Amino acid sequence: MPPVLDVTDKPARYRDLGRQLAALIESEPDATANAANMAALIYHGLPGLNWAGFYFAKGGELVLGPFQGKPACVRIAWGEGVCGTAAARATTVIVADVHEFPGHIACDPDSAAELVVPLIEAGRVTGVLDLDSPERGRFDDADKEGCELLVAVLLRSRRQD
Ligand code: SME
Repeated sequence: MPPVLDVTDKPARYRDLGRQLAALIESEPDATANAANMAALIYHGLPGLNWAGFYFAKGGELVLGPFQGKPACVRIAWGEGVCGTAAARATTVIVADVHEFPGHIACDPDSAAELVVPLIEAGRVTGVLDLDSPERGRFDDADKEGCELLVAVLLRSRRQD
């Protein structure tokens, strides 16, 4: 029997997901396919999520990319909502309770907590990874570091296109 992964050990869980992600995308050059598989890997690999996916920078705004979860708003202005804020600041944003975040864009009323990691390529924000949870305070620094690691795996594969 394979060893049971301790779900409370977030760094180990993220390292494991990072290895699975690398194996999924390393020989595939298509950016959309790789983002889609990454969204599915995260959504099914982490507990307590109701949405996981991408928005990509297009024409000065963020446009919905591959995701898992309920249908979401398609366009987000730069600097608006949690996603637009993370994109404009080029830094990861954790929100414990989105109802207390001014300008939060409610796509799914079940969402309570949110974690958004910018995709930064050649010094430019090219999109964001967005995770939502119905549990307030779901995301902490271990999730931030883990998701930044997963984004780094994705972007490394893109540089080899
Ligand atoms: N809540 C986000 C919008 C995207 S959805 O959560 C999928 C925001 O405020 O940017």
